Amino acid sequence: MRNETYIGEISKHKDKDATISGWLYNKRSSGKLHFLMVRDGTGIIQAVVAKNDVDEQIFELCNDLPQESSIKVTGNVVEDKRAHSGFEIQVKHIELVHKADEYPITPKEHGTTFLMDNRHLWLRSSKQHAILKIRHTIIRACRDYYDSRGYVLVDAPIFTPAACEGTSTLFETDYFGSKAYLTQSGQLYMEAAAMAFGKVYCFGPTFRAEKSKTRRHLTEFWMIEPEIAYCDLDGNMDIAEEFIEYIVQRTLEERKEELKIIERDTSKLEKVQRPFPRISYDEAVKIIKDGGLEFEDGNDFGAPDETIISEQFDRPVMVHRYPAAVKAFYMKADPQNSTKALCVDMLAPEGYGEIIGGGQREDDLNVLEEKIKIHELPMEAFDWYLDIRKYGSVPHAGFGLGIERAVAWICGLKHIRETIPFPRTITRIKP
Ligand code: 4AD
Ligand code: MG
Repeated sequence: MRNETYIGEISKHKDKDATISGWLYNKRSSGKLHFLMVRDGTGIIQAVVAKNDVDEQIFELCNDLPQESSIKVTGNVVEDKRAHSGFEIQVKHIELVHKADEYPITPKEHGTTFLMDNRHLWLRSSKQHAILKIRHTIIRACRDYYDSRGYVLVDAPIFTPAACEGTSTLFETDYFGSKAYLTQSGQLYMEAAAMAFGKVYCFGPTFRAEKSKTRRHLTEFWMIEPEIAYCDLDGNMDIAEEFIEYIVQRTLEERKEELKIIERDTSKLEKVQRPFPRISYDEAVKIIKDGGLEFEDGNDFGAPDETIISEQFDRPVMVHRYPAAVKAFYMKADPQNSTKALCVDMLAPEGYGEIIGGGQREDDLNVLEEKIKIHELPMEAFDWYLDIRKYGSVPHAGFGLGIERAVAWICGLKHIRETIPFPRTITRIKP
C-alpha cells in the first residue's frame, strides 16, 4: 500500500475523483451538510459531505467522528477560490481507518506545560507544523550553502574524552568503566579535518548540561560547524555573514506560507542583507553602558546585554575580540592586544542575541599547551589535538551556528522549546 494523492498536489486532480488519506482536523455541520477539514501533512482541504450525495451510513459516520480520526475521503476535486488550498472535495465516499479517542488538544487555549507534555500530538497543530517545516528548510539551506561551495561534510563523534566548551556543562557517562562525555561541539575534530580537506563542516546534535532555565537554552541542540584552513578572523566573519544572509533569504523564498501562519513580520527578515555591522567587544560595552545597564568591564555578556546590543541594529551584528579570559582555551590571542581573543559572536536582531560563536584558533603548539594548563584541562586527552600544531600548523578559523537559536529568531518565537521536535531542557526529557 502506498498513498498516491496528497493535498499539496491537489491541483493535478482538478475536476477528477481523488482519494485523500489523512486525519480529521476540524468539523462543522449544518443540517444536511458536514464540512470536514482534512489534513494529510502536506496541507488542509475542506471536504463537503452532502446528505443527498452519500450513503446514509457515511453521513451518520460524520455525525460522530472525533477530531484526529484517520479517514480516506474520496470525491470530486473542484476549484474553490475562497479555499486556502484553492480546492474542495465533494465527497462520494469515506473510509474510516481509525476512530480516534477524544483528542486532548482542542482549539481552546492550553497551557504550555500541557502542550509540551503532549508534544507528540501538538506537532499536528498548524503553528507547530509550520515552525518545523521552516526548521527543515533552514537545515537544508545550511547544508546547501556548504555543499555548493566545496566544503566536505565530516561527521564528528558524540562520545568524547574531554571538554571543548568548558567543564561546567559536560554530560558525563560511563564508558566501559572509564568516563566519557557527550560532545559539546564538533570543533576540535573539524580542526583536524580542515587540515586534511581544507574546508569542512559537521552538523549534528550537541549537548550542554545547562543548569539555567532560560528561553535560549536546550540541553540537546543541533549545531552546524564549518572550519576553514588558511582563514583568519576577518575571513571567518565574511563567511558567517554570507551564510546567514543565504539561509534567511532562502527561508523567505521557500516558506512564505508557513511564515504567514506563524504571523512573522517578514519585513524584518528582508533587511538581513550583507554587510552586517562588525563591532569590537569594547564598542559593545559602550552600547550597554550608554543604554543605562550596569556592566563590569571584562565580563561576558548576559542575555540583557546582548538584547540591548542587538537592538541597535536592523540586521545581525558581529561582536569580535572579547576578553580572552571569558572565552574557551583554543581561541587565538589578538596580536595587537594579548588580553583579547580573535573570536566573534553573531547576535541576531530583535533582541534574539547570540546565534553564532566562533573565531580564529590558536595555531602555536607552545601557546596552546600553556592554555590547556591554565584552563586546568587534562593534557593527555588533547595529545591528538596538539598534533595538529605539530604537523603543518596553519592559521585556521570556524564557527558554530545553533540551529534552534536560528529557528527561534527567523520564526520570531519567544521561546526556543518550539524550535525542535522534541525539546530537551533541564526539566524535560519526555516525550
Ligand atoms: O558559542 P558556542 O559555545 O561555540 C562553540 O561551541 C564553538 N566550539 C563552535 C565553533 O566554533 N565550531 O556555541 C555555538 C552556538 C551558539 O552561538 C548558540 O547558537 C548555540 O551554539 N548554543 C546553544 N543553543 C541552544 N541551547 C544551548 N544550550 C546552546 N549553547 C550554545
Ligand atoms: Mg558562545
